[in-house]
Amino acid sequence: MVVDLSTKYLGLKLANPVVVSACPLTGELDVLRRLEQFGAAAAVMPSLFEEQLEQKTRDARQLSVAPGGGPLIESLAYFHELKEYNRGPEIYLKHIAEAKKAVSIPIIGSLNLTVPGDWLRYARLIEEAGADALELNIYFLAIELDTTSREIEARYTELVAAVRKEVSIPLAVKVAPYFTAFPNMARRLVEAGADGLVLFNRFLQPEIDLDAFRVIPRLALSTPDELRVPLRWIALLHGRIDASLAATTGVHFADDVIKLMLVGADVVMVASTLYRHGVNVLATLVDGLRDWLEANEYHSLEQMRGCLSQRKCPDPAAFERANYTKALTSFLSGAESNH
Ligand SMILES: Cc1cc2nc3c(=O)[nH]c(=O)nc-3n(C[C@H](O)[C@H](O)[C@H](O)COP(=O)(O)O)c2cc1C
Repeated sequence: MVVDLSTKYLGLKLANPVVVSACPLTGELDVLRRLEQFGAAAAVMPSLFEEQLEQKTRDARQLSVAPGGGPLIESLAYFHELKEYNRGPEIYLKHIAEAKKAVSIPIIGSLNLTVPGDWLRYARLIEEAGADALELNIYFLAIELDTTSREIEARYTELVAAVRKEVSIPLAVKVAPYFTAFPNMARRLVEAGADGLVLFNRFLQPEIDLDAFRVIPRLALSTPDELRVPLRWIALLHGRIDASLAATTGVHFADDVIKLMLVGADVVMVASTLYRHGVNVLATLVDGLRDWLEANEYHSLEQMRGCLSQRKCPDPAAFERANYTKALTSFLSGAESNH
């Protein structure tokens, strides 16, 4: 039996639902070719960051370095690192054009923004460079005491609407899960112009280096347990909003892909597993999904997608239950039997 693994994401037809998430791997043409070879159905480029695109900041970089160091030195080092990360805006745009020639899978540009500004034009430049779609990553922590959640949410929707105006290619929006009423926020992002939601961003958590007596930012790769957050929210949103749903964070094995398809994701995105297991892990994800569908006598992915989403699940309350009682009692009865 030939199983049809094809899916649609942001209106793009993909051969299967496994997409490479925004990360430096997609920024290298030779790696990108290997990602395609091992089964990636689309690739999101590493992000261009607002800080790189702000003219004033670029001007600040020209200033001579303040004697004695301090914050200016820190920020210069940071922008230097960003340039190392994606080689700066000009090369970034060139890379998109080259990537389009190097592989035949869709190429999704990525912009990391927090507010509208001059840098919005980069959305258009990414489209002009040939990207098939744009992913807008809205990544910031609300730390001001005076800023309300209403203001923060308005900032999100205004930014999405502003980017939407710049481009005609499909637009995905990547956000973190930390909203009081996520379904309502999701719907408003879609109303503002998002064609898809990428759920969810992982915020870098600070770490303390006890030897250096300093707070240090440290990127830790995800673990499979983190999958449960996108799993729940995709299950709750499937079929209820008019947008594609992409799952990111915690997808490491074929079972993770299957679970996310069962709750209704259109695609899964992977980064950490590629760093941990190598790019050939992609083939095991795609093959594992195919094998599972075959074993369960599905002819297509479409047939099974969403059959464990909240709306179709035999126990819909399981996705809503946020209290501990049931989990605690079943944990304790399992723990007792192990004594
Ligand atoms: C090394 C590395 C670099 C990343 N760079 C970006 C980036 O430039 N833009 C972005 O939106 N996400 C970036 N991410 C986040 C990933 O796209 C992804 O959302 C996150 O790692 C969770 O997925 P995972 O569990 O498969 O790693 C990066 C992740 C890693 C591991």
